Amino acid sequence: MSDTEAAKPESAPSAEAPAPPAEAPAPPAFAPVVAPRKKKKKEVEAAVRLNKVTKRFGTKTAVDEVTLKIKAGSVYGLIGPNGAGKTTTFSMMAGYLKPTEGSVEMLGFAPTQVDELRSRVGVLPQDAVLPANDLVGEFLLHMARLQDFPPEKAEEAARTVLAEVDGKDWWSQRCGSLSHGMAKRVALAQALLGEPEVVLLDEPTAGLDPRVAYEVRQLIKGRRGRATIIISSHNLQELEEICDAAAILDRGRVVASGSMTELTASSEEVHVKLGRGTKTTGAPWMQQVRDLKMLKRVEIDEERTELVVYFERKETDAETVIAHVLWILLNAQVKISGVTKGRGLEQRVMDLT
Ligand SMILES: Nc1ncnc2c1ncn2[C@@H]1O[C@H](COP(=O)(O)OP(=O)(O)OP(=O)(O)O)[C@@H](O)[C@H]1O
Ligand SMILES: [Mg+2]
Repeated sequence: MSDTEAAKPESAPSAEAPAPPAEAPAPPAFAPVVAPRKKKKKEVEAAVRLNKVTKRFGTKTAVDEVTLKIKAGSVYGLIGPNGAGKTTTFSMMAGYLKPTEGSVEMLGFAPTQVDELRSRVGVLPQDAVLPANDLVGEFLLHMARLQDFPPEKAEEAARTVLAEVDGKDWWSQRCGSLSHGMAKRVALAQALLGEPEVVLLDEPTAGLDPRVAYEVRQLIKGRRGRATIIISSHNLQELEEICDAAAILDRGRVVASGSMTELTASSEEVHVKLGRGTKTTGAPWMQQVRDLKMLKRVEIDEERTELVVYFERKETDAETVIAHVLWILLNAQVKISGVTKGRGLEQRVMDLT
């Protein structure tokens, strides 16, 4: 692949697919981002760094001065509505696209330094297209060989990773005959092949049935610490559960980033969902809650029938606040239908995008 312009993986062609637009000439769907024999390794604290990265397609700015620092060994979420720039960001990390401005560093190298990065970066493109005529096993073996696996190790590695996505029975099945979810899992297996140090997963659970999506989450959690995993998903509960930190993108810009605790304000606010019809105005328990010295502010969210209390993280913690607030509510026989620390990632994203 040239290091100039290459297609987004989602527009990468299959045998049947029409040619992509001239703006984005095409790499193979599974262009190996990776590598050869003598790899120089650098000790890096941040596995991935983006410094003021901008990507323009003609007059359209898809990614706008994005700066990110992703800690080695963490699970990092890229969040944002359709068209926010997530896939474009992934494509630049994978080396499929070159930033218009700014720089990307993967494990201390430019994504175009393929010799240094081969087999160290695994990529699941958003709409990965598998070679329809290949058997699943052939495809994975081919990908293993591209990563310099010794031939005697390649099959073992391929079979192991296929088993990890619960697809060991598909070895001899044609890629073209797989269901959407099965193909996604084979593509995911390909991304995980050979224990890469950085794994880019663009919507790995989209279209998977709930059990398999659960297993994929477990698999990602299981790699925490061993690999740096960057993941996008429209399932915000999923990201809240598995990510250590995340960036929220909107129209190409980072509108918030930080640890999941920071993003969800889970160490600064508690939401108590009240039973329907609970009277709050003038209720004596409201005053008792307001009188709690540990709270900075108390609000009622009428629309959600929620009591929201804010506190200073340096002075107390969510558990203590929950204990005190619930004590008052229970004594007043207020009906409670849920308690959450923080506002939840979903609400945060809704507030920002
Ligand atoms: N090859 C291209 N040529 C022109 N515009 C593009 C190209 N690729 C992406 N864009 C535009 O850049 C913006 C960001 O697209 P991108 O695919 O990165 O979004 P996304 O956050 O991944 O969205 P989704 O959640 O739908 O996958 C969109 O407005 C899109 O139309
Ligand atoms: Mg996308």
